[in-house]
Amino acid sequence: MKQVGPGEVLAHKYPEWVIMIIACDAEGRPNIMPAGWGMICSGDPRLVCVSIGLTRYTHRCIEETGEFVFAWAGEKQGQLVKDTGSTSGRDIDKFEKFRIRTADPAEISVPLLQGAAINLECRVTDSLLTGDHTIFVGEVVAAHLPDEPIATLLNFGGEFAPGAPIGDLT
Ligand SMILES: Cc1cc2nc3c(=O)[nH]c(=O)nc-3n(C[C@H](O)[C@H](O)[C@H](O)COP(=O)(O)O)c2cc1C
Repeated sequence: MKQVGPGEVLAHKYPEWVIMIIACDAEGRPNIMPAGWGMICSGDPRLVCVSIGLTRYTHRCIEETGEFVFAWAGEKQGQLVKDTGSTSGRDIDKFEKFRIRTADPAEISVPLLQGAAINLECRVTDSLLTGDHTIFVGEVVAAHLPDEPIATLLNFGGEFAPGAPIGDLT
């Protein structure tokens, strides 16, 4: 084994799933960004968390409204990940620019993402400042699956591939 810098080892962690985080600003305008640093962090209560950079427009949105959608990107959303991960809601309306299709939420005021494998509606219960990111913890208040199952999207470090094919898991 050889010791290397932390930045070097992280390039070897893939594949990683991609979570699409949607949040609205104070005026109710939705924004979306991909996040690799998201996970389930409690079973009861059902909680997820995501680490969002302080400079992201999404950070401001979640701070302002206390709500977000946590959606596992679907297998065909690689280009969407690239588009929404290289632009900021501070500068453009990503939903308009990239013609992103949405669906109505059940419990919060943030739209769901069509084409995603899973959509979770979340309300922030806690947050932790971690260096240049904040980890936002969200309680899952509603969950949605597409009418036909969609596989998740795996990130191999900038190249994307579908996760394992899924059947009827119900
Ligand atoms: C695959 C991928 C994963 C990413 N993961 C994260 C992450 O976990 N946390 C984060 O703050 N930014 C992450 N980013 C960067 C943001 O998505 C990117 O800076 C985005 O443009 C921010 O948009 P916003 O300013 O509209 O919020 C990721 C980008 C990509 C492409």
